[in-house]
Amino acid sequence: MDWYPWVRRQLFKLDAEASHDWALKWLARIGHSPLRAFLHQSVAAKPVQCMGLEFPNPVGLAAGLDKNATCIDAFAQMGFGFIEVGTVTPKAQPGNPKPRMFRLPEHRAIINRMGFNNDGVDGLVARVKAAKYRGILGINLGKNKDTPETDAVNDYLIGMDKVYEVASYITINISSPNTPGLRNLQHGEHLDALLNALKQRQQELAARYGRYVPIAVKIAPDLSAQEVNDLATAFNRHAIDGVIATNTTLSRDAVNGHACADEAGGLSGAPVAPLSVKTVAALRHVLAPEIPIIGVGGIDNAAQARALVEAGASLVQIYTGFIYQGPKLVREVVDAL
Ligand SMILES: Cc1cc2nc3c(=O)[nH]c(=O)nc-3n(C[C@H](O)[C@H](O)[C@H](O)COP(=O)(O)O)c2cc1C
Repeated sequence: MDWYPWVRRQLFKLDAEASHDWALKWLARIGHSPLRAFLHQSVAAKPVQCMGLEFPNPVGLAAGLDKNATCIDAFAQMGFGFIEVGTVTPKAQPGNPKPRMFRLPEHRAIINRMGFNNDGVDGLVARVKAAKYRGILGINLGKNKDTPETDAVNDYLIGMDKVYEVASYITINISSPNTPGLRNLQHGEHLDALLNALKQRQQELAARYGRYVPIAVKIAPDLSAQEVNDLATAFNRHAIDGVIATNTTLSRDAVNGHACADEAGGLSGAPVAPLSVKTVAALRHVLAPEIPIIGVGGIDNAAQARALVEAGASLVQIYTGFIYQGPKLVREVVDAL
């Protein structure tokens, strides 16, 4: 039985962030109790080798839904092949003033300007250690808002030091539109300095822990062809282990005229699909064949997921489609890939 439409009706009576908080509170409780069996959904085994890891299926939970890693054991029941938690920053921070999350149901979309609200990396690592989940876990890192742009690299290195031991892979988020200056790290010498520092620290940590943890960089859907080309060339040069494409978009073309269209922040869901497919295809063209792409952005049906894979993604992630459709989307997409 699909219980999600009923749950969604109740949740959508509340404001977007209030319902998010309420759902996560209950998922955390259920996830920590034997009741989690009620969330269980079997999905087909479709193993994929990627970044040196074996994923049980190619459909993951995208970053930002479980920022604090409180619900890993609940999401694990729903059939995801992997789970990405965060974005987490070195120190806890409150994020932007509310309201900061808006539903656009007519477009199967969300606009958010959360601003990396999270409890900080130490708490996240403790919760990951306490979780029962033993599957593939990505940990997505960001910088604190009050860290000057000139020290941004250091925030990512602090994050790496702290999560390395417990992460299956680490995501470097340089594409959130809601932390001023963050997206500048996608360009020129900022990018080179960042990638250099990350790869060097990865080597040191691999030697210390005797385990190589791959690094994936998450990029925006709003880059020009030249910018994607430059990024991919830099990823090749630095032998980055994977690329996640894409984050939310600043574009409002697809939702013009909607009452929420002028809200600041990143737009996610169906309107992002053409942008993420285009970015993945452009990346695939230039990226070295051994660097895989994780496709994300606008997957709300099997065809959209297939479009991302045909454009060159080895794995996919979902967020907004999951909010609108619930766990059945995970199974549908796994079946289709
Ligand atoms: C409310 C909300 C919060 C998000 N927070 C994060 C985040 O903290 N870190 C991140 O890398 N992406 C974050 N994202 C972006 C998603 O991970 C994903 O890249 C984007 O929404 C496109 O996928 P979708 O269309 O399936 O939602 C967030 C998205 C939403 C809707």
